[in-house]
Amino acid sequence: MSPLRTAEVSKKKKPIAVDQQETIAGLAVIVMAAGRGTRMQSKQVKVLHPVAGQAMVLYSVGLGLRVAGDRVAVVVGHQADQVRQVIDRATSGASQGFSVAIVEQREQLGTGHAVLQSRSAFAVGKRGAPSNYLILNGDTPLLQDKTVRELLRVHQAERATVTILTAVLEDASGYGRVVRAQSAGQGVSRIVEDRDANDGERAIREINVGTYVVDGEFLFGALEKLDPSNAQGEYYLTDIVRLATEQGRPVAAVVLGDPDEGLGVNTRRQLATAEQVVRQQIRERWLDAGVTMIDPASTWIDAAVTIGKDTVLYPNVTLEGTTIIGEDSVLRSYTRLTNCTVGHRVEILDHCLFTDSQIEDDAHLGPFVHLRPGVVVRKKAKVGNFVEMKKTDLGEGSKANHLSYLGDAKIGKGVNIGAGTITCNYDGVHKFQTVIGDGVFLGSDTQLIAPVTVGAGAIIAAGTTVTQDVPADALVIARVPQVNRAGWAARRRVLAMQAQAGSVSSSTPTKSLPKSQSKKRR
Ligand code: UD1
Ligand code: CA
Repeated sequence: MSPLRTAEVSKKKKPIAVDQQETIAGLAVIVMAAGRGTRMQSKQVKVLHPVAGQAMVLYSVGLGLRVAGDRVAVVVGHQADQVRQVIDRATSGASQGFSVAIVEQREQLGTGHAVLQSRSAFAVGKRGAPSNYLILNGDTPLLQDKTVRELLRVHQAERATVTILTAVLEDASGYGRVVRAQSAGQGVSRIVEDRDANDGERAIREINVGTYVVDGEFLFGALEKLDPSNAQGEYYLTDIVRLATEQGRPVAAVVLGDPDEGLGVNTRRQLATAEQVVRQQIRERWLDAGVTMIDPASTWIDAAVTIGKDTVLYPNVTLEGTTIIGEDSVLRSYTRLTNCTVGHRVEILDHCLFTDSQIEDDAHLGPFVHLRPGVVVRKKAKVGNFVEMKKTDLGEGSKANHLSYLGDAKIGKGVNIGAGTITCNYDGVHKFQTVIGDGVFLGSDTQLIAPVTVGAGAIIAAGTTVTQDVPADALVIARVPQVNRAGWAARRRVLAMQAQAGSVSSSTPTKSLPKSQSKKRR
């Protein structure tokens, strides 16, 4: 039997999209993502922890791709293979064919050492060396594109060698502090890490966000001069600021208007904060784009989700992964969709769970529907209470309204699936396919022993177990013939009452008694 087509139908959307018009010529981006993230207390490397359903590192990679096109390198180290996989999956096959260079930092000797590893990724080819590098930490998921573009603008305008992004925080602990010259201009002279700072420096509330623009001719030469004699014994990227000022080169700084944007996620608490901020931004973005949310605070939308205008989300709806929802659709409460594509004017009632499935325009589903991977619900089809489907294509206008399991099935148009219909698709070893033609009527409580094909227009009588293929337009009935025994039930009741009273007369007839009763009397 040919494999089902349905699973292939849901086309995978890439979580990162790039508009080539917006990229900046001569710019290259380096994302540092090799550190383990010890303070997360996790078995998983920090940059793979998700924020709004998307690995943290993808926020920096996405930003890099949007500003620099295909000149992006990511430095990986801890769990390098997993990080590489996540980046590949999010970027490969993007229509513009942008890909990211992955370089490995085998030993994590500090952020300066990490950036140095990316040198080979930008080896001069026919395009020439980058004129500037934008360097991003892999743990700053709240950073906005417009902020980075402003940083680049200031860097150009001030003809700076290094331009850093800073923020003024109430509690600056843990961050590198920005030390400004006491003298004229209050220019930045260096960055001092929390663990290396003296009391005076620790009192500084202006912090280094971890976002830098560095002159292309200056960067790698400066990195080679770094010296790891500090509290952590690491090569600090931040020391290039001091190197630049010592050489009399201009260093510029942009202070964040909204300090929250500079959040660096080092701990689970900071991860939770980032999650809240990103979730709220996503909700506001879709509200602004014309999506109604009855209760935004309980509506959960992952970063890569897309929602059409005039769609209404009721409280406690969760949209995950690469889910796409069309226009004018309604999703009632407690419904969760993961990597699904939903058309226009679709109604999904309460308590549904859908994964990797596709729902076409004007379909109605729910309440309590479970769609496992590979389901296609065609136009105007209806799926009702307690129906589970898997790798099944439900044809246009077909209905499965009550209590069914439909797995590995190809169901035609205008089919009625009676209440309690089950595809028996599994023999304990293999899965088999069920094919149901257009216009078939399946009575209630039908079992289809796969592999089996029901021809178009056939009628299956209620309670039938279909074990053989059914020709088109046939009637199929397969049940035990019915037997009616006159008076049997009434006689049974009399006997039961007599037994209860303990006064069973010897003249009571024993002919044609229900079996259990006659046994008791012996
Ligand atoms: C860093 C900055 C600090 C700044 C803060 C902002 C340095 C020395 N310090 O400190 O000034 O205030 O970010 O959030 O840069 N990484 C590597 N390889 C390494 C070490 C780190 O790739 O050898 C990566 C990490 O995966 C992470 C990023 O670099 O994505 C930052 O590392 P992290 O250890 O979090 O630096 P912070 O101590 O936060
Ligand atoms: Ca950090």
